[in-house]
Amino acid sequence: MNQNKRMIVAVDGYSSTGKSTLARDIARYFRIKYIDSGAMYRAITLYALREGLYDRANATINEKALRKALEHLTLDFELDTDSGQQAILLNGEDVEREIRQMEVSQWVSSVSQYRFIREKLVEKQRAFARTDSLVMDGRDIGTVVFPQADVKIFMTASLEVRTQRRFKELQEKGQHVSLEEVRHNVAERDRIDQNRSESPLRKAPDAEVIDNSHLSRQEQLQQAIDMIVKKMGDHPLLAP
Ligand code: DC
Repeated sequence: MNQNKRMIVAVDGYSSTGKSTLARDIARYFRIKYIDSGAMYRAITLYALREGLYDRANATINEKALRKALEHLTLDFELDTDSGQQAILLNGEDVEREIRQMEVSQWVSSVSQYRFIREKLVEKQRAFARTDSLVMDGRDIGTVVFPQADVKIFMTASLEVRTQRRFKELQEKGQHVSLEEVRHNVAERDRIDQNRSESPLRKAPDAEVIDNSHLSRQEQLQQAIDMIVKKMGDHPLLAP
């Protein structure tokens, strides 16, 4: 292996499987950058909703106006490498809280189906890896964004476990939604993400599965560390 090579770890999987928790933990453990690609799709969705460019009744966007907006719109991450915490900035504004609300969760899979949006975001995602080692989570990271990723992890968990986790998370944030609404949203996003024609959610053939239905946060991190060390054993980032 080229000792100067950057290390790319792709974490894909179903909605609410804890991809970002694992990816953040991997980033902290190996001291590499973490990019939440879902936050980018969420920020575009928020922008479209705010600007009246999304027609909820027909689940369609104003393509012409959004194409134009994407030419100038900026998306950046504010990263704290020690804590692994990050916030996404949409045209310089911190929208981290807003993009996690149900309103955005409800429409994001629909907005993510458009090819021109995906192309724009994939370009930005690849740019993050030009200079740094990183771990990125999403739906198409191991299949489309970084097909040559060094390590590919695909996460899954039962719908019930995922629903309970997301429900608890929203409650803690003071968002009042029913368990049924959360279950429906999680299942519906999986359905759309797997069935869209552009970069559908798929496990890459060379990805390794982590089913965390019954794993603790530490246990899932340990599985990921073992996978990374097995594949990247002689990489300088792994040196003691
Ligand atoms: O990871 P998340 O739940 O925050 O992602 C929100 C939505 O964004 C997800 O339902 C589908 C879309 N998405 C995508 O299409 N491709 C990605 N790489 C990441 C997210």
